[in-house]
Amino acid sequence: MEDQKNTGEISRVMVTGAAGFIGSHTCDALLQKGKTVTGIDNLSTGSLDNLADALRHDTFSFHQADICETSLIAKLFNDFQPDAVIHLAALVSVPIAEENPDENDRINVLGTKTVAQAASTCATKRIVFASSAAVYGNSEHLPLSEAEPTNPINQYGKAKLESESLLLPYEKSHAMIPTCLRFFNVYGPRQDPDSPYSGVISIFSRACIQGEPVTVFGDGHQTRDFVFVKDIAHAVVASATNPILPGGIYNLCSGTGITLLELLDALASIHHDIPAPLFKEKREGDLRHSLGDPSRAREILGFTATTSFAEGIRKLQTPNQ
Ligand code: NAD
Ligand code: UD1
Repeated sequence: MEDQKNTGEISRVMVTGAAGFIGSHTCDALLQKGKTVTGIDNLSTGSLDNLADALRHDTFSFHQADICETSLIAKLFNDFQPDAVIHLAALVSVPIAEENPDENDRINVLGTKTVAQAASTCATKRIVFASSAAVYGNSEHLPLSEAEPTNPINQYGKAKLESESLLLPYEKSHAMIPTCLRFFNVYGPRQDPDSPYSGVISIFSRACIQGEPVTVFGDGHQTRDFVFVKDIAHAVVASATNPILPGGIYNLCSGTGITLLELLDALASIHHDIPAPLFKEKREGDLRHSLGDPSRAREILGFTATTSFAEGIRKLQTPNQ
């Protein structure tokens, strides 16, 4: 193990939030690359079903643990001695974070600190953090580049920004390279459609499969920058395991805005005779348009959202991929 640390090879990767939507795809992608992976998750929103493939690998282990349990997390890191950590565990619901700002701080800021400290004491070389487009707030300057001022409008976005700020200095202070990836609207298999706070694509897709009408909040002309989960997992894995990639802040997005009405058209081309949508009042605090500029991630990380929207929507119809 010491030899690998000295040669710069990244072979042992710790993943927090491993049983979640993005976490489980990330574990699968790491295992496909032959990495040894340990997943941590408290299973609050994640599920072991998502890890069915990963759990078949001898090189995968899982610990049901909370990232806020400082001494347990320190022990898990010390036992595993990761070369890199991918920190995805979070309180992911914006409305729940608004209602419970202390819980949001505890998990989404202090949890990040606990993970980063545990990693740095094991001489972990890289830490990749799941940040969010929520750090930008309501910017008028679209597409959003990383140079755009941050102005989060909710507790969740504020905590993501705070986590970025506490991670970035680790490069100088602990020689641990931090990469903060600002995900836009991620979609794909294993995104739980049962939660009312789930992404619109999983909610609409489930409704179409069940032959039920979808509810559109607003006029349906709002746009989002949707990006397929396997493309995200690929970029996360590259950021964690490619020792020559520089850290920093990167948007992970497609650079294309899709309206909800276009989403419905895409679903209608797969599910014939879907019921007419119901239209309701726009959701309070909803962004009208969200669009990221992926240039920096493309130029520096070599990231491209290779899955077209039509292809991603088709893949979503095959459960449990
Ligand atoms: P998810 O809910 O499926 O995954 C989060 C995982 O973290 C879950 O498995 C959950 O059980 C676990 N978890 C939560 N609190 C924990 C704790 N205290 N200790 C240990 N585990 C804990 O959500 P996701 O969409 O896969 O999100 C993954 C990350 O990506 C999150 O950090 C989220 O904020 C970020 N993100 C997601 C999106 C998106 O579009 N899905 C967009 C921007 C950012
Ligand atoms: C997403 C994130 C949020 C983050 C924000 C940052 C998810 C689930 N939410 O919110 O954490 O802060 O990006 O930019 O990923 N809609 C409907 N009907 C539905 C569900 C949704 O019309 O049944 C609409 C919403 O009102 C919204 C759009 O679809 O206009 C997208 O909603 P959603 O998938 O929840 O994502 P964001 O609001 O972009």
